[in-house]
Amino acid sequence: RIAGPCSMVMFGVTGDLARKKLMPAIYDLANRGLLPPGFSLVGFARRDWADQDFGKIVYESVKEHARTPFREEVWRNLADGVRFVPGSFDDDAAFDLLAETVAELDEQRGTGGNHAFYLSIPPGSFSTVCQQLERSGLSSPQQGAWRRVVIEKPFGHDLESARELNAVVEGVFPADSVFRIDHYLGKETVQNLLAVRFANTMFEPVWNNRYVDHVQITMAEDIGIGGRAGYYDGIGAARDVIQNHLLQLLALTAMEEPVSFDAHNVRLEKEKVLSAVHIPQDLARGTARGQYSAGWQGGDKVLGYLEEDGVGDGSRTETYAAVRLDVDSRRWAGVPFYLRTGKRLGKRVTEIAVVFKKAPHLPFTDTATEELGQNAVVIRVQPDEGVTLRFGAKVPGAQMEVRDVSMDFGYGRSFTESSPEAYERLILDVLLGEPPLFPRHEEVEQSWRILDPIERFWATEGDPPDQYSAGTWGPASADDLMRRDGRQWRLP
Ligand code: BG6
Repeated sequence: RIAGPCSMVMFGVTGDLARKKLMPAIYDLANRGLLPPGFSLVGFARRDWADQDFGKIVYESVKEHARTPFREEVWRNLADGVRFVPGSFDDDAAFDLLAETVAELDEQRGTGGNHAFYLSIPPGSFSTVCQQLERSGLSSPQQGAWRRVVIEKPFGHDLESARELNAVVEGVFPADSVFRIDHYLGKETVQNLLAVRFANTMFEPVWNNRYVDHVQITMAEDIGIGGRAGYYDGIGAARDVIQNHLLQLLALTAMEEPVSFDAHNVRLEKEKVLSAVHIPQDLARGTARGQYSAGWQGGDKVLGYLEEDGVGDGSRTETYAAVRLDVDSRRWAGVPFYLRTGKRLGKRVTEIAVVFKKAPHLPFTDTATEELGQNAVVIRVQPDEGVTLRFGAKVPGAQMEVRDVSMDFGYGRSFTESSPEAYERLILDVLLGEPPLFPRHEEVEQSWRILDPIERFWATEGDPPDQYSAGTWGPASADDLMRRDGRQWRLP
């Protein structure tokens, strides 16, 4: 699958994401031979740069962050297609110049009138940029060519703003030309969840409330907010990752098998399951939130959230969030899905653990049911990507003692192929016009429908988020949430 003639116009090229992920991903795609020879990259920003200055930025980002080896001839070819247009988002003349630049590329590099606009910018600017793209004619392709827009989360900050945003973007670009990035869907291990479920016969028969006790979805990070207070403060963990990444993981874990793997059917099944999700009636008991205080991590003393650069005085932004969700369907009735995420936790790990019910009875005298853990299928999203099965096995010896053991599949041991970075996969899909891995606006709106009442509850709750020391597994209130249900969080 090699992309046909095209270019990418990138807004937000001075940001972290562009430098650390997007530009390197483009180089890696070129290096793997997946981009057309005339592929061009146009940067747009409020900087007094010439093409060469932007080229230097791209070069440095590639040198520092690309995953594939640096090859001079690949870089040379890519660099020949690098252009820069200076300007601000409300500057008509700059967008006219952008339109000229893009038209020139069609002539000089054979990009064929096919252009993707990547909006790696704050959502507050989406509508201005979309309107400029429309005004300057950039959003309308000639016959036989395409124009696509790529938008980065956050897609709004609540249901209402998400709807407004969708209306603006889809007012300019047709729905099938809008690519909403949720980079978790670009991860191999996340896509593998569907392979595990639907390519095998041994998981689906037990993937339901007859056998499953509950599901735990964990996205733990050891990093703090770094230099991202400007974005993060006031947003918090739930809006940052539960609304998107974790609810997508829930949808993939719980959805029914799609009729086929085309974009419409995969997204339809995800939408169905998201629309069946309900939040706990008692939000004080069914949710928990926390904020990291100073502590030790990896042998280093680290700052508390409130001491981080740029965080508002006495900020109540949560850096940890846990919530119990239920899915109203025949398959999942009575099976809680526990989602948790946090910064500055014990270690970086994302996993989905499907935890099974205990055997109702054990015929052995040497092991009591309470001594045995529960069977589990754990999809290890990252790091150490793979799948673990946990079950009981007999301890060698004269007694019939049973103990929990695990069986592992690891990518590194089973495959020689390397996994592309999530952004590589997603950018290639944009250029190919393959939409299955990009949520439709219905999914985004369903996710906000789930999150909005929780956010409202937290905003009106008198107490600030509970403190937890950096390097631990979050606030005690999150453990209480589980304990009340007679369960506990796994220690990944
Ligand atoms: C981003 C969040 O979407 O995902 C960040 O905004 C978070 O806060 C990041 O750190 C984590 O991504 P990954 O791929 O490292 O798990």
